[in-house]
Amino acid sequence: MKNILLIGGAGYVGTVLTSHFLKMGYKITVLDNFIYHNQFAIQPYLGDKDYIIYHGNMNNKRVLDIASKGVTDIVILAGLVGDPITKKYPQISDSINNIGIKTCIDYFNGKGIDKLIFISTCSNYGLLKENELADEEFPLSPLSLYAKAKVDNEEYLLTKKGIVDYTAVILRFATAFGLSPRMRFDLSVSEFTRDIYFNENLIVYDEDTWRPYCHVRDFARLVEMVILSQNNKVFFEVFNAGGDINNFTKRMIVENILKFIPAGKVQYKANGSDARNYKVSFSKIKSTIGFEPQFTVQQGIEELIEAFRIGVYSDSILNKEKYGNYRITEREAEKIKATLQL
Ligand SMILES: NC(=O)c1ccc[n+]([C@@H]2O[C@H](COP(=O)([O-])OP(=O)(O)OC[C@H]3O[C@@H](n4cnc5c(N)ncnc54)[C@H](O)[C@@H]3O)[C@@H](O)[C@H]2O)c1
Repeated sequence: MKNILLIGGAGYVGTVLTSHFLKMGYKITVLDNFIYHNQFAIQPYLGDKDYIIYHGNMNNKRVLDIASKGVTDIVILAGLVGDPITKKYPQISDSINNIGIKTCIDYFNGKGIDKLIFISTCSNYGLLKENELADEEFPLSPLSLYAKAKVDNEEYLLTKKGIVDYTAVILRFATAFGLSPRMRFDLSVSEFTRDIYFNENLIVYDEDTWRPYCHVRDFARLVEMVILSQNNKVFFEVFNAGGDINNFTKRMIVENILKFIPAGKVQYKANGSDARNYKVSFSKIKSTIGFEPQFTVQQGIEELIEAFRIGVYSDSILNKEKYGNYRITEREAEKIKATLQL
């Protein structure tokens, strides 16, 4: 019986993975330090006989000793996720996104683990020219502290091929959308839909820049497919994770939302602070393990509007900080800073 350790499993993606795996009959162990005071997100799973939660920091090997007892596979989701939050806390970001991830990569060698999946990002491609399409061989050009750490960790993990005893797999996730127990409205599809729905003045910068998107439930299915894949198919392989149908410009997202809410207030502006522009090829993941997304961006927008209509997230404008990666809890920040001074 598989027992999967989700490191960072109380986050936006991790909780949807938890729901999926529990439904499919797996055992799930989560290690998370609730860096955004996001304990509320694991409430639905507490008491489930197949769910164990450990509150702790992945940087600490004693914590890893406790959390990894009996686990068969590892998914590393934890991190300070996104450009703004890493810019705001560069030291803590270094501790988590550089030191913490590498600690895990090293720690799990020799522990009898089957697969270790490192969740990376398509942001690694940075800025592409018009008509370019990034496959996994395309040169990486990370623009932010966040993506630079991902690239560095990918490189570090790939040097472990033939040295460690587990099968490592790197999934470069597209930008996520879709509902989650730990909802994030600091991601384009959800942020635009929320702002338009609640009649906010939405300003969209660089509306014709491309980005790939993927529904969180499709990510959950994909991670399961990777876990079930024969090791020789995915051994130390890097995959773009998403589907060609969900390469969208910001303008295309807005136009899809306006189909439902024609009176929405949107302004386009040039020269925003986020220069990313990348269209990605997902043919490798399709041909290697047969993954294709089941959800389109349009369906994600509809799903969100339906949730707003019934009153879910009615506090999402007033209570903005609950719904994204804006501020680390003082307690966790102090704990991490203390370890940096040792
Ligand atoms: N959400 C996206 O659009 C997206 C896109 C590409 C890649 N990814 C990757 O997917 C993963 C999950 O993203 P997410 O959107 O769920 O982010 P999230 O911020 O919602 O979740 C991250 C989780 O990690 C935990 N965490 C942080 N530092 C930790 C530490 N030192 N020890 C233990 N737990 C720690 C946090 O408390 C949080 O629960 C990340 O690796 C991210 O880079 C996400």
